[in-house]
Amino acid sequence: MAVERTLSIIKPDAVAKNVIGDIVSRFEKADLKVVAMKMVHLSDEQAGGFYAEHKERPFFKDLVSFMTSGPVIVQVLEGEDAVAKNRDLMGATNPKDAEAGTIRADFAQTIDENAAHGSDSAESAAREVAYFFADEELCPRTR
Ligand code: TYD
Ligand code: MG
Repeated sequence: MAVERTLSIIKPDAVAKNVIGDIVSRFEKADLKVVAMKMVHLSDEQAGGFYAEHKERPFFKDLVSFMTSGPVIVQVLEGEDAVAKNRDLMGATNPKDAEAGTIRADFAQTIDENAAHGSDSAESAAREVAYFFADEELCPRTR
């Protein structure tokens, strides 16, 4: 499996719970390296554009409203099989279905406020990384 990159967002509910460090620590323990990181309070336009694929879904308006309710941590994670690894660490979209010990099982209760985002494919990851970061903001981890 090749080294790849994925986009991670620690959502407003998890930032509010003060568990940024705990979540980042899970990535590091799984051999994912942070190659870019920032805190940002998303605008409606930023959140709506990021989730454009869900624009016609009934939950879209509430999703944008949640994602703009407080600051988030946006990160690019790099490592072997990073896309799938991040999704495994997060657990199922609905925390009620998420395996014990996953981020969503441990920090979220409901599907609409589920603690974390992770790209769902290499193609999504490329688009999502470029949505938040310029190339020069990605820092190669050579040591
Ligand atoms: P989705 O891309 O399906 O899930 P994931 O985050 O696991 O890739 O949906 C994006 C977000 O939209 C999801 O994290 C939470 C929200 N959402 C709802 O609020 N209700 C729903 O029924 C679904 C499917 C998603
Ligand atoms: Mg998704």
